[in-house]
Amino acid sequence: MSTVVTGRRSQTPLIRQTQLFIDGQWTPSRSGNTFTTIDPATEEVIAQVAEGDAADVEMAVRAARRAFDDGPWPRMNARERGRIMLRLADLIEAEIDELAALEALDNGKPVRDARTGDIPLALDCLRYYAGWADKIHGQTIPINGNYFCYTRREPVGVAGQIIPWNFPILMVAWKWGPALAAGCTIVMKPAEQTPLTCLRLARLAQEAGVPDGVINVVPGYGPTAGAAIVRHPGIDKVAFTGSGETAQVIMRQAADQLKRLTFELGGKSPNIVFADADLDAAAAGAHVGIYLNQGQCCCAGSRLFVEDRIHDAFVERIVAESRSRRVGDPFDPATQQGPQVDRAQFDKIMGYVDAGRREGATLATGGGRVGERGFFIQPTVFTNVRDEMAIAREEIFGPVLSVLRFSDIDELIRRANATSFGLAAAVWTRDVTRAHDVARRLRAGTVWVNCYDVFDAAAPFGGFKQSGFGRELGERGLEPYLEHKTVTVSLA
Ligand code: NAI
Ligand code: MG
Repeated sequence: MSTVVTGRRSQTPLIRQTQLFIDGQWTPSRSGNTFTTIDPATEEVIAQVAEGDAADVEMAVRAARRAFDDGPWPRMNARERGRIMLRLADLIEAEIDELAALEALDNGKPVRDARTGDIPLALDCLRYYAGWADKIHGQTIPINGNYFCYTRREPVGVAGQIIPWNFPILMVAWKWGPALAAGCTIVMKPAEQTPLTCLRLARLAQEAGVPDGVINVVPGYGPTAGAAIVRHPGIDKVAFTGSGETAQVIMRQAADQLKRLTFELGGKSPNIVFADADLDAAAAGAHVGIYLNQGQCCCAGSRLFVEDRIHDAFVERIVAESRSRRVGDPFDPATQQGPQVDRAQFDKIMGYVDAGRREGATLATGGGRVGERGFFIQPTVFTNVRDEMAIAREEIFGPVLSVLRFSDIDELIRRANATSFGLAAAVWTRDVTRAHDVARRLRAGTVWVNCYDVFDAAAPFGGFKQSGFGRELGERGLEPYLEHKTVTVSLA
C-alpha cells in the first residue's frame, strides 16, 4: 500500500530570486503586493514572491519592446545568439542538483524525476534550438518577369509566454528555446503555484549573456498579470500552455488585436493495449502513461483501452503495480510519486473519484488521500468505466486511470476518437500493420507505438481539436516565432 515516507530533506535549496525580473533588474511589484508559494508536500509557505499585475506587465513590455526594436538581440550574429543559449544550458547544468531541489520543493515532484527527466529534457531543448539560431533563412523564388524574389524569416517580435505549473523548468525551455533562437524578446508569466525556478533561470540567462530586456519575468495571477500580457498591444504573439477554459478567455481577449496565438492544452489520451502486445512493456507503459508527474501531464494516458481477451489479467497487473507505487516525500530518492501541486488540484481530483463511484465505475484500487498533510493521492484505478462517464471524458490531471474494454477494432477507433481532445495516443501491439493502421486513424498530435511519453526536442508536439493549435519542439516549433517576408527586386 502507498505510504508517505517522511525522509529528511536531503538538500534545502537556496531561494535567491523572488522579485520581478524586468529589463535585467530585480524589482518589487509596483503595488508592493506579494503572494505565497507553498510546498505541496507539507503545505508550508516556502517564499513570498512579488506579485506582478498590469502595471508591472507595462514595464516588462516596454523593456521587451525596446530590446526588440532597438536592442542587440535580434540584430547580433545569429551564431552568437546560439552561443549564448548554449551557455545558458551549461549554467543550468552546472546547478542541476540545486534546480532539481527547488523544482521539487515548489512543485512537489520527486527530486529524482526533476534531476533525471525534466531538467535533462530542458537542456536538450535549449541546446537543440541554440543549433537552429544560425539556420533560420529564407528562399530565393523564381517569379515571372525580370525580378529577383527572395523571402526572409524574421522574428515575430515580443512574445508573451504564459506557462503552467506541471513542468515549470521544462515549460520555460520549450518557450524560451524557439523564441530566443528566432531573435524574439520575451515577457513570461510563470504559474502562480511554481514561480521559483523560472526566476532562477532568468538570472542564469542574464549570466549567460542574454541582454537586458530580452527576457522579462512577471510572476502573478492569470486574470491580472496573465490577462495584461494577452491584452497589451506591445505584445505580438502569445504562447500559452494550460487549460482549455483559460485558452478560450485568452482567445477572446486577443481577438480585437488579432494577436498570434499558440495553445498547448489538455487531453484525455487513449492508451490502447491489444492482446498480442508485449504485456510487460504495455503494463509498464500504462503505469508511466498515467502516473508520470503525479498524473499532471497534458498527454497522460488516462483512458486505458484493453482488449477483451486479456482485460482481466492485464487489469490485475495494473492494479498490483499501482498498489506498489511509492508515494511520499519528494526528497526521498525512493519516492515515485509526490503530492499534487495544490489544494485546488487535490480537490478537483478527489471530486472525480467521487464522480466515478457515483456513476457506477468500479474502484479497483486507491481513491483516497495519503497521510494528513500535503496533497498526496493514492494511485487510483477505475474499471468498468463507460465512455459517457465524466472520468472517461474529462481531464482529471491526477493519478486516476480509467480502464475501458474493447473487442472490435473499428469500434475501438471510433471510441478512442470520440473526445473533444486530440493531444496524444498510444498503441501496444506486435502486429506492425495494425500498429501503423491505428496510428493513422487516431486523431491525435502524437501517437506512440509500443512506448509512452517519449519526448525529444526535435520531434514536434501539440494537439488536434481542443488540445490546442500550433506545435512546439522541432522545426515546427520555430514557426510561431517567425514572420515570413517576401522581397521582390526589379532587375530592369
Ligand atoms: P490555467 O489554465 O488556469 O493556468 C495556466 C496558466 O495560465 C497559469 O500561469 C495561470 O496563471 C494562467 N492564467 C489563468 N487565467 C488566465 C487568464 N485569464 N489570462 C491569462 N493567463 C491566465 O490552469 P490551472 O487553473 O492551473 O489548472 C486547471 C486545469 O487545467 C488542470 O486541472 C488541468 O486539467 C489543466 N492544465 C493543463 C495543463 C497542460 O499542460 N496542458 C497545465 C496545467 C493545467
Ligand atoms: Mg488557475
